[in-house]
Amino acid sequence: MPVRDVFGRPLGSLRLSVTDRCNLRCGYCMPEEHYVWLPRESLLTFEELARLSTVFASLGADRIRLTGGEPLLRRDLDSLVRQLASIGGVQDLALTTNGMLLAAHAASLRDAGLQRVTVSLDTLRPDRFAALTRSAHHGDVLAGIAAAVDAGLPLKLNTVVMRGVNDDELGELLGFARDVGAEVRFIEYMDVGGATGWRPEVVVSRGDMLAQLGASMGTIHPVADDHPGAPADRFQLDDGTVFGIIASTTAPFCRDCDRSRVTADGTWYLCLYADEGLDLRAPLRDGAGDDELAVLIAEHWRRRTDRGAEERASLADRTPLYQVAGLRADPRREMHTRGG
Ligand code: GTP
Ligand code: 5AD
Ligand code: SF4
Repeated sequence: MPVRDVFGRPLGSLRLSVTDRCNLRCGYCMPEEHYVWLPRESLLTFEELARLSTVFASLGADRIRLTGGEPLLRRDLDSLVRQLASIGGVQDLALTTNGMLLAAHAASLRDAGLQRVTVSLDTLRPDRFAALTRSAHHGDVLAGIAAAVDAGLPLKLNTVVMRGVNDDELGELLGFARDVGAEVRFIEYMDVGGATGWRPEVVVSRGDMLAQLGASMGTIHPVADDHPGAPADRFQLDDGTVFGIIASTTAPFCRDCDRSRVTADGTWYLCLYADEGLDLRAPLRDGAGDDELAVLIAEHWRRRTDRGAEERASLADRTPLYQVAGLRADPRREMHTRGG
């Protein structure tokens, strides 16, 4: 039986950030010129990550997603995937990546046991990509997507929709996703740590997206939800194309949230918006046994009352969660350290 929190939510999805480094600078996530990085010696080894995952799995975590920063910047990631794939109880092993390095790794990740991949794709236009990410390598992302398709990995695309930035591309992105056999999810711009440029006017709500897509693509039908706790509401066009909308900003899903995240230095956060995390690296390196770790983790989860996105949504005057000074004081507050 999975351990449950104060609101009865089970421990379910575990997001492991394997590095806080990233090779893009998306404006909604890493808009600054300079960042404070986690010290290298604090990064968990693959053996430490696998050991923690085994303990989490014994408490009910049945889905693991590797995140970053950009997870493919961590060398030999396929060897971590191989270790995680062999853990009993883990039914879903996925990766969220910006796609830049995916072309070289898709096949080996699949061979190692990766079950599916999600690639961030905010635009189909190279010039827009350059403005959004401060990188000229849009083609590498498209090559990464093609490689994931060739490798037979089930694929999702994540698009953060921003007013006046890429909100005129929803139809084209939907068409692209359909052509490559992927499911695109349009994500409301979130006021998470790191999104220092967030303003309510830039958010395109789920309602606005549906109105726009309905006008250009025809009737949109809701798809019945068989996964409570999944962030995306799913929809279908008349031609059968399915897409998702993640409305974390205007319609949070905290009441069903079974997610938690471990930063690359082994700090465990019970919520994307949580200010404090639990240090798991110290007990791990001080020789705690699996049973001790399990007790620590279970007791912490049982006390969980987090519903960060709902609390944010109830604020009358919403501004970014942290200013730059607050982020520099604790880089674990950053979305790119917490793994999105
Ligand atoms: P699936 O397992 O395929 O449903 O993937 P996922 O949606 O869980 O993972 P992904 O990494 O693709 O995350 C997509 C988006 O969902 C992120 O960009 C966030 O906007 C949002 N999201 C992910 N985790 C959380 C969370 O814990 N809380 C909230 N409020 N939003 C989240
Ligand atoms: N709002 C919404 N989604 C975000 N992501 C990063 N920052 C934000 C934000 N401010 C998304 C990325 C990626 C996922 C891991 O998190 O686009 O798909
Ligand atoms: Fe879960 Fe926190 Fe996200 Fe709400 S904001 S869905 S509680 S992680």
